[in-house]
This record gives sequence, structure tokens and C-alpha cells, in this order.
Amino acid sequence: MSVDTMSAVNGIRTRVLSTIAGQLGNPHGTLGKGFAVMLNRGNKRAIAGAVDAADIAAGATVGFGGGAGLSMLLERVGTNGTVHGFEISPSMLTRAKSKFAAEIGTGRMQLAPGSMTDLPLSDDALDSAITVNTVYFVPDLAAAFAELVRVVRPGGSLVVGIGDPDVMAKMPFTAYGFTLRPVAGVIAALEGAGCTVDHKQLADPPIPHHLLVARPA
Ligand SMILES: C[S@@+](CC[C@H](N)C(=O)[O-])C[C@H]1O[C@@H](n2cnc3c(N)ncnc32)[C@H](O)[C@@H]1O
Repeated sequence: MSVDTMSAVNGIRTRVLSTIAGQLGNPHGTLGKGFAVMLNRGNKRAIAGAVDAADIAAGATVGFGGGAGLSMLLERVGTNGTVHGFEISPSMLTRAKSKFAAEIGTGRMQLAPGSMTDLPLSDDALDSAITVNTVYFVPDLAAAFAELVRVVRPGGSLVVGIGDPDVMAKMPFTAYGFTLRPVAGVIAALEGAGCTVDHKQLADPPIPHHLLVARPA
């Protein structure tokens, strides 16, 4: 292979991997719809594990940042509970609003644009919150956890799900915009935000996950 051909191939590889990482961090456009379906399928087990770990009571008010977990959360809170969802991706928000139009109509679900670093909720508004595979895209973890702890009531549950960082580091697209942190560092950040943390692990493929079950004091 000539030097020119090799550099063209490398350029294409970089563009493809950057596109994948960009879509995972903020799904958008036509491609974003495909990524949403793929995320829901690929991460279903990790999200279900996070919903289980959150120990959500019927009637609870819970928050969530995008994806397949919304229906699982609706099921857990029952008819008298409320599910809040926040997303930075307008495409994901539009998709969820269309899928859950009936629940939004009855007030059981409230969806809004919002970053986990700046949530449109009052202090202690939620009994529980889960966020799975999102913190890789947040540069300031301390700020995000301080905000999540602000909106989850003391004694409530905040479940942060992350893929195993060693396994994630071997996926070529994670070099393009993901911040992969050691699990101990994420636990320390949750403790720094005033939580006790229980560490659970899901060993199942395709990606082993860590579920950090945090409880604000
Ligand atoms: C890799 S996807 C994971 C989606 C789903 N939780 C799952 O596990 O399949 C990351 C999602 O986090 C959202 N996201 C990225 N940064 C965010 C932030 N600061 N606040 C809220 N959501 C964010 C993206 O828009 C994207 O939908």
C-alpha cells in the first residue's frame, strides 16, 4: 500500500470513529435514529440493572437521561408515580416525546431538554435517578454529581452506570471524545458529592458494567 493510500485509509478511519463517538455523545439526524435503536438494544441489560438497583417504589418520582429505561421506570413507579427525563439531544427528546405521547398527556411522564450539570428541577425533587453510559460525555464530573445530588432527596437513590473502563478503552471509537475514568475515581466523585456508594457489577457481555448505587446523605 502506498503512503498516500495509507494516509487516505487512516483519514477515513478517523472520520468514521469520530462520527460514531459523536453520535453516542449526542445522537442526531438520520444516523441518530439508528444509534438510538442500537443503544436501546445493546444497553438494555445495563439499564435494567440500574433500574433494579435504584429500588424504586410505586408512586416515586424518578429522573432519567435518555434511552430504553423510560418504559422500565414507568412500570416501576406505577400509575401514581412520575418519570422525568432529561436529554441534551433534541433528536432523542423528539423520539421519546412521540413514543410516550400518552403518558406525557396524563402527566405520568415529563420530558425536557436538560444537561445533568443543570437540571430544571427544584432541590430534592426526585426519590431516585439513574444515568447509564452518559458520564463519559461530561467533562466536569464533580459539577454533574453535585447537580444530581441536589435534585435527589436525602436517602433516595442515584444509580450511575458505566461500562468497564478497560473494556471500553479497547473500543476504537472511545478515543474520539469519550472520557473514560477509573471506577474508583467515579466512586470518589460520588462520595465527594456527599453520597455513600454501593458498587455492583454486571459481568454480562457485550460490555461488563459497573453500577454505582449512591445515596445522598
Ligand atoms: C451512549 S448514550 C447512552 C444512552 C442510554 N442511557 C444507554 O445506556 O443506552 C449517551 C446519551 O447521553 C446523552 N448525554 C450526553 N451528555 C449529556 C448530559 N450532559 N446530560 C444529559 N444527557 C447527556 C446523549 O445525548 C446520549 O443520548
